Amino acid sequence: MPATLQAPPPSFELKPYKSLSNDELIARVQEVRDEFGPRLLILGHHYQQDEVIALSDLRGDSYGLSQHAADSRDCRYIVFCGVHFMAETADILANRPQKLAERGGERIPVILPDLAAGCSMADMAAIDQIEDAWDQLGDVIDTADITPVTYINSAASLKAFVGRHGGIVCTSSNAEAALRWAFARTSRVMFFPDQHLGRNTALGMGITLEQMPVWDPYADSLGGSMPEQLERSKVILWKGHCSVHQMFRPEHVRLFREKHPGIKILVHPECPREVFELADVSGSTSKIIKTVEAAPPGTKWAIGTELHLVNRLKQEHPEQEIHFLSPVVCMCATMYRIDLAHLCWSLENLAADTLVNVIKVDDDTAKWSLVALERMLEVH
Ligand code: 13P
Ligand code: SF4
Repeated sequence: MPATLQAPPPSFELKPYKSLSNDELIARVQEVRDEFGPRLLILGHHYQQDEVIALSDLRGDSYGLSQHAADSRDCRYIVFCGVHFMAETADILANRPQKLAERGGERIPVILPDLAAGCSMADMAAIDQIEDAWDQLGDVIDTADITPVTYINSAASLKAFVGRHGGIVCTSSNAEAALRWAFARTSRVMFFPDQHLGRNTALGMGITLEQMPVWDPYADSLGGSMPEQLERSKVILWKGHCSVHQMFRPEHVRLFREKHPGIKILVHPECPREVFELADVSGSTSKIIKTVEAAPPGTKWAIGTELHLVNRLKQEHPEQEIHFLSPVVCMCATMYRIDLAHLCWSLENLAADTLVNVIKVDDDTAKWSLVALERMLEVH
């Protein structure tokens, strides 16, 4: 290093933060928030634990949080209390060319307080598997007649693949609009990584199960399908799922209906078809919240989504009777990694000018992901 440049100060270690009390951590996080004011934006996904949500400037679903990142004006730092793909999306949107130009080239660093906060569903589709599937499909059908659609719960490399191939990103709140957008362009869609969101949405649009082969990336060839099945296909579903929502079963729905006549079943569309079809209402985390908020007092609900959100709804709506749809604990273990200790540690490092856990998508991946994300923002 040239003598004129000073070495950056060493970052604080995480370990000592783990022994601090919650009250102490909250006070210290608050100190950094006060110091930075509107220059710091803490985003919290609805599945975060209550203590983290209480310290977030904005809470939302994946789509809403992307929008906040896309619209950010005053903020100069984003701390994303969510999972890795969400922080990547925030980096792409907050640092897109138009925003960089408005800020004279200044980048907004996006910090993920714990780098191990990933998404098991996103991890079920790797870019080399997607490229291999696309090549294999090309031996059987015309890939120019397939629009790739990726759920926002996917790595930036997949979003870039989709952008390069004329496709679109969807969220749990605009999956049907995204599929309609795709079918206006081509007669087939490849949907990844969540087979359940893809299947539940396409069934609602009149596409049959026979027209939806599942592509297993670990099958010997053609994702485990026969060429004729792929020729007949309308939507090719990637064999991925959410390990949390996969736990909700149709027998849970039946049990609640038997024990609590009149109960309403409200689920996230990442639930398997057998559960989704038995539900009264389904939708993104924001839709789940709005549905409960709009219901009259005394309404009975069994809700099939991540435990922290359902528990928060129970606390915030004592006038309603809210149950968790599964008898077992279904929580997003990776989201849960973002705790007060990680939040405080990353913020105090930021205040000391030693940025830790910055998520930065490389320029080419960001450029092509943005193409697919802008289509998503348009069709919502
Ligand atoms: P939402 O987009 O509905 O917030 O869902 C995100 C998610 O990861 C659900 O498992
Ligand atoms: Fe991923 Fe499921 Fe966690 Fe959502 S709940 S972040 S889909 S693992």
